This record gives sequence, C-alpha cells and structure tokens, in this order.
Amino acid sequence: MSDENRGLKQGLTSYGDAGFSLFLRKAFIKGMGYSDDALERPIIGVVDTFSGYNACHANVPDLIEAVKRGVMLAGALPVPFPTISIHESFSHPTSMYLRNLMSMDTEEMIRAQPMDAVVLIGGCDKTVPAQLMGALSANIPAIQLVTGPMLTGSHRGERVGACTDCRRFWGRYRADEIDDQEIAEVNNQLVPGAGTCGVMGTASTMALVTEALGMMLPGGATAPAVSSDRRRIAEATGACAVAMARDDRKPSGIMTQHAFENALTVLLATGGSTNGIVHLAAMAGRAGLSLDLDAFDRIGRKVPVLVDLKPSGQHYMQDLHNAGGLVTILRAIREHLHLDCVTVTGRTLGEEIDAAPASFEQAIVAPVSAPIYPEGGMAVVRGNLAPGGAIVKQSAASPDLMRHRGRAVVFTSVEDMAERVDASDLDVTGDDILVLQNAGPKGAPGMPEAGYMPIPRKLARAGIKDMVRISDARMSGTASGTIVLHVTPEASDGGPLALVRDGDMIELDVAKRSLTLDVAEDELERRRGEIVPRQHAGSDRGHLKLFLDSVLQADQGCDFNFLVPVAVGKVPVTEG
Ligand code: FES
Repeated sequence: MSDENRGLKQGLTSYGDAGFSLFLRKAFIKGMGYSDDALERPIIGVVDTFSGYNACHANVPDLIEAVKRGVMLAGALPVPFPTISIHESFSHPTSMYLRNLMSMDTEEMIRAQPMDAVVLIGGCDKTVPAQLMGALSANIPAIQLVTGPMLTGSHRGERVGACTDCRRFWGRYRADEIDDQEIAEVNNQLVPGAGTCGVMGTASTMALVTEALGMMLPGGATAPAVSSDRRRIAEATGACAVAMARDDRKPSGIMTQHAFENALTVLLATGGSTNGIVHLAAMAGRAGLSLDLDAFDRIGRKVPVLVDLKPSGQHYMQDLHNAGGLVTILRAIREHLHLDCVTVTGRTLGEEIDAAPASFEQAIVAPVSAPIYPEGGMAVVRGNLAPGGAIVKQSAASPDLMRHRGRAVVFTSVEDMAERVDASDLDVTGDDILVLQNAGPKGAPGMPEAGYMPIPRKLARAGIKDMVRISDARMSGTASGTIVLHVTPEASDGGPLALVRDGDMIELDVAKRSLTLDVAEDELERRRGEIVPRQHAGSDRGHLKLFLDSVLQADQGCDFNFLVPVAVGKVPVTEG
C-alpha cells in the first residue's frame, strides 16, 4: 500500500484540494494535543460501544485503555470512535431490528475515517455479528475483541446467572412456585456485574464461533469481563491489530468458506444459540457465501454437543474459561476442522491449537466418546409447514416431545399471544402444539425472541414444563424447550405458517427432520385467499421502511438485500 493510502493521509474529506484536506485534518486533530510524530504513525481505529444502557459493555472504557496500550507499545496510534451500541433488553422492538443498522454504521465509519486497521469491541448478542458484517464489507484489517462473560451470582446458596436462570425463575414465578419476595431477590443476583450473559447464549456463542473463525486472538472468547486475563487479551489485541495493518491482513482472507465451516461446526459442538445460525448466515452472506441448511444439518449428525453449559448443560462461561476455553473444544473436534485456515495472528488454526497451553483434566468439555448430546445442538426440519426449513435446538429439547403429533393452538401475533396465552378459557392441553404466526423478520417486525412461548399459566400451574412450540420467531440462546424456530418463509412473507388454524393437526419428527401440517392442499389454498397483509404503523418512512423493504429471510441471515453481494459459493462445503 502506498504511503498516501496509510495513516492520516487516507480517505481525505473532499474539498477538491488534497493538500488542503490533509492540512485541515491535521489542524483539527491537533486540537486534541497530538504531535506530528504521533500523526505520522499507522492508525488503529478502536470501536467504542460503551453505552449507559448496556451493562454487557460496561467494561469497554477499561478495554479501550488496554487496547490503546497494546497499540502504542507496537508503535502505532490508537484512535477510539463511537458506533451504535445495542443491548438486548433495551432495544425496541427487538435488537435484531437494529443489527443491520449497526453493521452499516460500523462499515461506514470504518470507511469514512482514516485507519489502517480496526479493533472491534463488542459483546452483547447482536453487536459482534453486526461488527463483523460491517468489517467484512469494509474489508480493512480488523480484529474482534469481546467484552467477555459476566461472573455468576448467588441466590439462597444456588449459583445463578443471566439468563437461563432468569427464564427458569420467571417460569417458577408464573407457576406460583415462588413468591413476589423471592422473585425480587433473585432479580438482584442474576446480573451481578459487567459482561455478557454467562451461559451458552448468543453472546457466548458468537464469541466462540468468532474465535473459531479466526477473527479473534486465541483464548479471546471466554475470559470473564472483569478479569485481568480480559485486559491482557485486550492489550495483545491492540498489538495484533498493528501487525495486521503492517501485513494488510484483511477479513476476506480470514473469513473464508472453510473458516465459516469451522465456525458452524463449533456452533454445533457447543450447543450454541439458534441465533448463531442466523448471524453466521448473515456474515457468510457478506462474503458472498450462502448457507446450506441441509449440509449444516448433516454435519450435526456427526458432531456431538460436548460443552456442559446451560441451557443444554449445567455450567457457566467462566467454568469453560477455567477449563481451557475454546481450544479444549477445538482439540476434541479436531478431525472435523479445517486446520489450515489463517487467523488474525497470521498463523493457522492448527498452529494455534498446537501452540496453546497443554490440555488438562476438566469437567466442562466432554470427550467425543461421552458427549453431552449425541448429535449437534441444532437440527433442521422441513415439510409443508416450513418449505425453506426451520431450526430446533434438539440438545435443549424434551426427548419425549421430539416426535409429537398434536392439535394446533394458534396465536396470530406476539400481541395476540400476550393477550390470550394466560386466559383461563383458552382451549389448550399439554398435548397441544402452540403456534405463533407473524413474528418473523417482516411480521413483527424484527424477528423477536418470542419463539420461547410461555406455557399457558393454567398448564404451568398443573406442572407442565414443556410443549412443542412452533413459530417464525427467534429464541434467546439462554432458553430451552421443544421449540421450532425460524420457520421459513415466515407467515408475513407468504409462508404456510400463516395458514394454520386452531385444531389443525401438526406432526413434528426431529429424527426424520420433518414438520408436517396435516391439512389438505385445497383447503390450504382456500385459506391463502383469506389472508390480509399486515400493516405496520410508521412503515412509510425511515429505518422501518428500509427494514421492511429490504430484510431477507432467516435462512439468509435477515440481512438487507442491498448489502449482500451475489453468492459465489456455499457453506458448509464439506459433506457431513
Ligand atoms: Fe447482553 Fe445477554 S443481554 S449478552
């Protein structure tokens, strides 16, 4: 790269006089006290996603300081800059509604401002995929640093953490098993400090698959947010970014077809969040790769779940970190990985696995010979109810419901469900199948995590813990149950899910990968004629208009159609 395209000299503001543009730029940045020596150095942008609304990113200021130290020790100039910050519980209507906007913000700010490499600091669910989508599209040297998982809290002697335990305690409260005082007590303990949810939710999943992709330093996924390890990783990340700038090591050379396959394999072996498949589809899409759901399912037939973390298992992310972190998993599934993929360090995944500290006896990552679950965490089901496929997190489902035929109890929207699910006169039994329509990317809009439909209160009080639930929505990675998600196409995009009526019979058979609506084709055709397209208030302007006009379906990652290049390949590429 020529000198004009490095440091402060690149990407000048257009005044029609390059010399004046640089003169003006230097005058303004000197207003912050920089010397000419500092301004001659390579520039490492550092994405600041701190927000007063985002406890998952509460340690970002500390991490920025550590990254800056690493950058300066390596001889370059760090320059932090802000982007959108998204927290799951502070995103209306949903965080997914904002992910693509954050990716565009990230991409455009990387493009607009002079930097030779960028450190992406994020953690809460949508932020890491948004940042990597943006970095892939901008395609300058980039490295991910996650904020890291929170530590666990304690409630009446029991270890608790966000957010599998949030749902578990709320379920018990709904079933009248615990009272107002106890639910208030546990509310104080579920998030005991800074960092991302401590179970195998979406944030943990995305951290692990990002390390597997090669976009993060080895060992970077699991160190707790408040640990000294996390700050050392941040310092090393800053130094690595300087080396990446020097070597011009770009995301397009790291996030390759085989690297995505590694990430998908790790997603299955960890029992990772179902959101992970949507985000990986979106990230791969930015690289011109389309997701092959059936090939993903075939890998899942041979790669078992090994990680004993909630919600599929028992433990928390800090335990996985103490068990060696991702490399312990990578060693266990080594035969299924492409070891020649290059990582941010310039070394291959195989070289990093070999260079990592030796393995030791631990109880968090099971051996392949005695897995937590015999297949991958997710299965892909298809049928006349989901022609484009749907996902079921089989490792967190009830074994006795994996093959089930039941009567549909239909909710036509998230609002309809909220209004009626607890009604005492709702016609529902524990053998029925709950169906939620119009909760997909366009329907809700923003594909909320409403797929974890509550067990109707009268059934919860009768001791029912799980039912088959089917929707075009997503589900938090921290949730569990026999839940079919991401039905594609969604109800609001012409999908047959919109045609289900109360009392229809539905059959789920996960072993056969089938999802069948037992209604005659001519009756379905008649119902199709009755459908009235949903309207969303305010959809004639702004981001909502852009979103509804452009969002793709779940199997394409819910990205905007104008951000995705024409696909030139598929992932995964290896037959299972
Ligand atoms: Fe941020 Fe769970 S809410 S990671």
